[in-house]
Amino acid sequence: MRTLNGRRVLITGGASGLGRMLAKKFVDAGAFVGIADLNARAMRTTAKELGVRGYELDVTNPGSIQKCRKAFLADSGHIDILVNNAGIVFGGAFATIPLDQHRLTFEVNAIGPVSVTHAFYKDLCARPEASIVFVASASGYIGLPNGTSYASSKWAAIGFAESLRLELQEEGKRHVHVTTVCPSYIDTGMFSGAEAPLFTPMLQTEVVADAIVKAIQTNRKFVELPWIVRWIQTLRGLLPRSLFDRVMHVTGVSKSMSHWKGKSSS
Ligand SMILES: NC(=O)c1ccc[n+]([C@@H]2O[C@H](COP(=O)([O-])OP(=O)(O)OC[C@H]3O[C@@H](n4cnc5c(N)ncnc54)[C@H](O)[C@@H]3O)[C@@H](O)[C@H]2O)c1
Repeated sequence: MRTLNGRRVLITGGASGLGRMLAKKFVDAGAFVGIADLNARAMRTTAKELGVRGYELDVTNPGSIQKCRKAFLADSGHIDILVNNAGIVFGGAFATIPLDQHRLTFEVNAIGPVSVTHAFYKDLCARPEASIVFVASASGYIGLPNGTSYASSKWAAIGFAESLRLELQEEGKRHVHVTTVCPSYIDTGMFSGAEAPLFTPMLQTEVVADAIVKAIQTNRKFVELPWIVRWIQTLRGLLPRSLFDRVMHVTGVSKSMSHWKGKSSS
């Protein structure tokens, strides 16, 4: 999808952080942009600031997704790019986090992208060229102490994106591209208090957004940032499990969430 000019783009979780920055980048590229978010107040503010359309959306609620789809398509006519970006995290030791929060993490991060993609799937396939983006995480490649349900929900999101991408290929729908995004920690505040491990400095939101936009334009299947994230799966396959665990410990990955505070206290 070389040019983004005139493309219709919907970004879930677009009111803040990475989604907001992506919306700005798409606007700069001449796209028609809609941001959809649970936080209605932030959504309205961002929509006004960026001059984009805003929609209330709860990705855990099929009725809300249908309402958002109807409103977006009424405004835009069609959809070319869907960015599944909405996400949440509750950091802390597994047993200290209420079960409801673990379950909600899966509902938003794993089932959310399935539900939203399901709602827009036929609309996207009907276009001459379309792109579906899944903002997962580098934690979808590893085990993350104090981020158990977050990391595992991202494993699920990556597995879904990968399966859908291959299904599209098998069905000959090569005009629908899937991009899976796996960044380590980004400076949006979602992971405030977390300590960036060795070789993975805190990423700047703009750098990640630029990489995603470029990946859409070149139909790239993965965005893995920083570079070392690309090697995690290789390392896991090559090293004995105990040695891989040691690498995760020594580089600080396994301790990185020990002091997570998140947005509320940032
Ligand atoms: N910040 C990081 O370090 C980091 C690293 C890797 C991946 N990610 C992923 O990037 C994405 C964006 O995160 P961010 O860092 O910009 O955080 P953020 O909190 O700024 O953005 C997430 C947005 O999702 C929205 N949201 C939450 N629940 C929702 C729901 N049920 N329905 C609709 N919208 C909902 C929030 O209101 C918020 O605007 C997330 O999927 C996150 O998991 C973030």
